[in-house]
Amino acid sequence: MFSRRMFIKGACGSLLGTMAVGGYSYLLEPRWVEIKRVTIKINALPKQFDGITIAQMSDIHHSKYVHKEFVRKCVRALNALNPDIIALTGDYVYCSDEFLCPVTEELAELRAKEGVFAVLGNHDCRDSTSDALAKEGIRVLNNEHTPLYRKNDYIFIGGVDNLCTGHMDLKKTLLGMDDNPKVLLCHNPDAIEEIRKTNVDFVMAGHTHGGQVSLPIYGPPVVYSKFGNRYASGLFHEGNTIMYVNKGIGVSVFPVRFFARPEITLFTLRNSVRIV
Ligand SMILES: [Fe+2]
Repeated sequence: MFSRRMFIKGACGSLLGTMAVGGYSYLLEPRWVEIKRVTIKINALPKQFDGITIAQMSDIHHSKYVHKEFVRKCVRALNALNPDIIALTGDYVYCSDEFLCPVTEELAELRAKEGVFAVLGNHDCRDSTSDALAKEGIRVLNNEHTPLYRKNDYIFIGGVDNLCTGHMDLKKTLLGMDDNPKVLLCHNPDAIEEIRKTNVDFVMAGHTHGGQVSLPIYGPPVVYSKFGNRYASGLFHEGNTIMYVNKGIGVSVFPVRFFARPEITLFTLRNSVRIV
């Protein structure tokens, strides 16, 4: 039989455990950024682009829980990777546009040799966010693309409007692209349902935050996707398209992360034929 002392001991243990998990997920993990390095093999990648690097940051959600100083630290971490291109995949603020100017002021410090590109997320107000990013020299791709040249070779960088709250127009985005490699920025990974039917080579997405809370073995119980936790985070091969879902650096709804660390990702594009 359990004695009263054993019961109190058990209750104290549970309370301490809960406080430890709570403290970790509220105070530590949301600020513990992971730098991930991923190689993406693209068959027809021109020789001039073999080895090009793209650093992705997503879902900053600047708010009273995601401080400006943290965003600054992430911007510095991104610049330290010395990328050729930077890709921002949406959700710069959380719920309020009062955080828009402060976050874009930090993003103005991003440095990439061949450009900083962005798309909008479901928390972004289309006009004000586009204008604020553009003011800081960031190219917003809203259902459009641009060729990126190295000598006579080129690839395409495109970006789509958000799937749920915007007007994603994949056809318009891809219009005029030829057979050269196509890299796409897209906030919501659910768009892969449409993208996989096209000849887009590589998609960078965000939106899910990796669920923000993930359980050992089970994975994230809640992911804002119609596919459940299927595209919560990581690398996916769908048709001829490779998609990477970044866990983002900020938080929304609840200011916690558990087994879903914030991440910055550095992609190296390689021509698969040239990889030894
Ligand atoms: Fe988000």
